[in-house]
Amino acid sequence: SLIFVLNGPNLNLLGKRQPEIYGRETLADVERDCRALAEELGHAIRFHQSNREYELIDWIHEARDAAAGIVINPAAFTHTSVAILDALNAFEGPVIEVHISNVHKRESFRHHSYVSLRADGVIAGLGTEGYRLALRRLASLIGPGA
Ligand code: DQA
Repeated sequence: SLIFVLNGPNLNLLGKRQPEIYGRETLADVERDCRALAEELGHAIRFHQSNREYELIDWIHEARDAAAGIVINPAAFTHTSVAILDALNAFEGPVIEVHISNVHKRESFRHHSYVSLRADGVIAGLGTEGYRLALRRLASLIGPGA
């Protein structure tokens, strides 16, 4: 099945911005590793990043017909976006929320997530490995690819 992996604002700078927090791997590295793992699990991914809230919302709408599950790192929109929460509430499959850093160890404004009200699971602080762990969990929730 098809799994959407969606990334929010500033994640295009992954590997370059605040590497002490987010590490040195780039988003292209993450995409490559996710693609390889998905294939191993018998699934396929569509991988997107945007700095624009509406684009993330449009991809979530697209997922309604196209995807069996969603992995999403909404980045800063995690803490601000009722609109992304509403879009995810209109998607019926499983959703896993990923944060590269441990948001609970950071500023208190990062401790609240709108997206967690919808997510079936949340991964934080496991680095970019969190994306692969989320894919494994989705694969077990949606079953073997077809
Ligand atoms: C993040 C955590 C957010 O608080 C932050 O705004 C990000 C990235 C993470 O992956 O750790 O941009 O979602």
